[in-house]
Amino acid sequence: MNKKTAIVYSFHTQKSKKVSEKVIDAWGKTGIEAVNAEELSKDVLEKYDNFILSAPTWFDGELPNYWDEFVPDLEEMDLKGKKFAIFGLGDQKGYPENFCDAIGILAEIIEECGGNVVGYTSVEGYTFESSRALRGDEFVGLPIDQENQARMTAGRIKNWLEQLKKEFK
Ligand SMILES: Cc1cc2nc3c(=O)[nH]c(=O)nc-3n(C[C@H](O)[C@H](O)[C@H](O)COP(=O)(O)O)c2cc1C
Repeated sequence: MNKKTAIVYSFHTQKSKKVSEKVIDAWGKTGIEAVNAEELSKDVLEKYDNFILSAPTWFDGELPNYWDEFVPDLEEMDLKGKKFAIFGLGDQKGYPENFCDAIGILAEIIEECGGNVVGYTSVEGYTFESSRALRGDEFVGLPIDQENQARMTAGRIKNWLEQLKKEFK
């Protein structure tokens, strides 16, 4: 059976939306369905096997409101057998103590619900003080910094998607 993949991001953001559209283009439009994070429901999540989630960090180390609102529903779900890869926008110069915390927060919730988080990446190339996205010397997803390292975004996405195509199998 073919696995179904969704990318979940807020359709009303500026930067996350733009980066998510880059992810869709790089993945190949036919292989992935876009889901608005603001309209997420348990039924929608049930339909897919693999997920790419966009989790920008807001409010000094927190999830944006649309994710916070869905977390109680998410916590009631059994995510066993589903794979999740999380990328998130953040600003390592402006918020070095909470760099891309939202990636780590979402990863913890998914794992508590039995989901499998894939798509870990190296910390090489980033400068920050602390992050909840850290697991040992890796990030539990892909940080994207449009404020300070926008020119690295396309390459980071390309490498990450190559990794995900193997890990999603
Ligand atoms: C009020 C505010 C708080 C923020 N807090 C953090 C933070 O704690 N950690 C971080 O890495 N980035 C933080 N950022 C940076 C955003 O994540 C970054 O600007 C991102 O590109 C926003 O994406 P969006 O516009 O798609 O939501 C913050 C930005 C704002 C405006």
